[in-house]
Amino acid sequence: MQAIQFDKYGGGTGALKHVEVPVPTPKNGEVLLKLEATSLNPVDWKIQKGVMRPFIPGKFPYIPSTDVAGEIVDVGPGVQKFKAGDKVVAILSHVNGGGLAEFAVAKESLTASRPPEVSAAEAAGLPVAGLTAHQCLTQSAGIKLDGSSQQKNILITAASGGVGHYAVQLAKLGNTHVTATCGARNIEFVKSLGADEVLDYKTPDGAALKSPSGRKYDAVIHCATGISWSTFEPNLSANGKVIDITPSPSSLLTFALKKLCFSKKQLVPLLLVPKSENLEYLVELVKEGKLKTVIDSKYPLSKAEDAWAKSIDGHATGKIIVEP
Ligand SMILES: NC(=O)c1ccc[n+]([C@@H]2O[C@H](COP(=O)([O-])OP(=O)(O)OC[C@H]3O[C@@H](n4cnc5c(N)ncnc54)[C@H](OP(=O)(O)O)[C@@H]3O)[C@@H](O)[C@H]2O)c1
Repeated sequence: MQAIQFDKYGGGTGALKHVEVPVPTPKNGEVLLKLEATSLNPVDWKIQKGVMRPFIPGKFPYIPSTDVAGEIVDVGPGVQKFKAGDKVVAILSHVNGGGLAEFAVAKESLTASRPPEVSAAEAAGLPVAGLTAHQCLTQSAGIKLDGSSQQKNILITAASGGVGHYAVQLAKLGNTHVTATCGARNIEFVKSLGADEVLDYKTPDGAALKSPSGRKYDAVIHCATGISWSTFEPNLSANGKVIDITPSPSSLLTFALKKLCFSKKQLVPLLLVPKSENLEYLVELVKEGKLKTVIDSKYPLSKAEDAWAKSIDGHATGKIIVEP
């Protein structure tokens, strides 16, 4: 099969190689997918840069990307939920990768069915970005997406990106007032996702994260980078939390200090723990028209470098999709 791989850390787009490799064989509890779409996430090129060395990748050469949708063509021993012919979406492990290829093996336990109403590209957008938005809101911010929790003021930074655009839509399923930040060109887009007020991050008020209606935030779903605690702090309600999905050494230090001081305002570093029931829930929301995957751009596997460069550039609106 055709695949894209790199065989060392670093090198960016230029180090991606087009290779012909054997189709993988599904082992115990695994399914083999003929891929129809893969979405990229910043973590894919961060792995190439070596931010998770020496643990990820597990070994070189490495086929990057983890968010895949396709059709099951074979199942390994012990697989019960799926059979050949089923359309699915899955999240692969970051240790092994495998998404930028014509076929990939996924764990049955991290695979969800995909109904005909949900296209492969829409489904492939969901795993890392959608699940992270879902985990931030439901687990860390305590928002019930059936609207049954008490009203909360939420700030979502980088609301035009992969995680942010799902976070705005999911937050609005709960009982929330959403303030969002994005660039000027995406203000109307982010409003169309449901945000109640939108700040251009390049203006002074936007950089200060000031709610135009004077609200203090109960939770910040922080999808941007490079914003200091001193910028967040005055905008938080008494028990406000910043949920930081790209923790830096300084934010980890803030996290530790706030814990040690029993501070009511907290910084919470978050790492995605993927669960198939949450993926199934997100797929169902897309089917019902309550959540959409906004596609920034699509590339064939033969042009995967262009998709990679687009992700590294950091200016996608929604998700970047690669189609084998
Ligand atoms: N902890 C985890 O498990 C986890 C999971 C998923 C993602 N992440 C991390 O979360 C971050 C976001 O991921 P993503 O997939 O959403 O990224 P993305 O899709 O690449 O985000 C791009 C978007 O961010 C906007 N943006 C950039 N800087 C901004 C700022 N300062 N204020 C407002 N908007 C800004 C850009 O707008 P412009 O084009 O207008 O600049 C662009 O639309 C990444 O660092 C990623 O590695 C972590």
